[in-house]
Amino acid sequence: MAELPSQAQFASIGQGYSTDEGNSLSLKADAYTQAEWFVADQQAILARTWQWVCHVEKVREPGSFTTMDIAGHPIAVVRDRESQLRAFYNVCKHRAHELLSGEGNTTRIMCPYHAWVYKLDGQLVRAPETEHLENFVPKEICLDQVQVEEFAGFVFVNLDPNAISLRAQSGNLETEIRHWAPDIENLTFGKRLTYDIKSNWKNVVDNFLECYHCPTAHKDFCDLVDMDTYKVTTYDIYSSHMAEAGKGANSAYDVSNATVRTHAVWWLWPTTCLMRYPGRSSMIVLNVIPIGPDRTLETYDFFLETPEPDAMELDAMRYLDEVLQVEDISLVESVQRGMNTPAFTQGRIVNDPSGSGKSEHAVHHFHGLVLDAYRAAAE
Ligand code: FES
Ligand SMILES: [Fe+2]
Repeated sequence: MAELPSQAQFASIGQGYSTDEGNSLSLKADAYTQAEWFVADQQAILARTWQWVCHVEKVREPGSFTTMDIAGHPIAVVRDRESQLRAFYNVCKHRAHELLSGEGNTTRIMCPYHAWVYKLDGQLVRAPETEHLENFVPKEICLDQVQVEEFAGFVFVNLDPNAISLRAQSGNLETEIRHWAPDIENLTFGKRLTYDIKSNWKNVVDNFLECYHCPTAHKDFCDLVDMDTYKVTTYDIYSSHMAEAGKGANSAYDVSNATVRTHAVWWLWPTTCLMRYPGRSSMIVLNVIPIGPDRTLETYDFFLETPEPDAMELDAMRYLDEVLQVEDISLVESVQRGMNTPAFTQGRIVNDPSGSGKSEHAVHHFHGLVLDAYRAAAE
């Protein structure tokens, strides 16, 4: 396994960054390209922060479960018989085979390797052919639990047993989300789009956090929303990105019949993006999934009023998939290639003190959180 950066590397990674966003350079390119910094990201960021799992509807019923990978670790989220939500390392205590796969509903957790059986609370209840073993007490064996939290209609997990709850860390975020999307718990899954991107996850997040590139790179988007109303505000571990819908008939998709007229977007440190586009009530969750120093997966899950998208939503999905994502993926893959050359170390943060969309203050905010996490890891 690749190693963490050296103390000297930790000492130099923050050079050029200033807490004054008007007078700061960006995070250094090494953090985006070098294997040891990817290890740092996994250990110091992804394994210590709240990671989005699913909408609560997926694990509403007792016995329902879903599985995912967090920072390279297989994790399962399960609603137990008493309706308590639980999360475990999805790893058998016998010889480490993965237990559950995919998603579904089950009455117990049976390992597919040698059929050890666990209750939904993680307690081992049966291990075949072990009756004669000395000093082997099944009820002393339990799956390793992971912190899990229901937050604003979604489920999050955190691999850090000492992490403070997401609700306590995130200030007004839940209040804000519920203000704009009061029906969030009742929205239902409509569609998933997935992307495999040849770029570091932080380039994907950087690009998400500023609309300074929108006038050059997203002509249709600047027609969809009124850029003069675009406002970006940073808080402790999240930022909000708000704009009013632009022209009804525009080159992105027609929003003449939209009941939701505000483009409301939140980024939650480090990898969760929530988006409410003009249209019906909806929430799109962009989950940024770091895979390697120069590879990132993205899932876009559309939660809608009905499982079937309406015509406007179909058009919005087409625009997002065939236009906006094509534009953004091209940008972040180009940036990754540029960062891999000796011609780039870091660049100037472009800050608009009025907090408009055409400013990189939310990128700067993100880089500050990354550097805080690196500093904590170095200690
Ligand atoms: S590894 Fe699970 S029962 Fe053997
Ligand atoms: Fe973009």
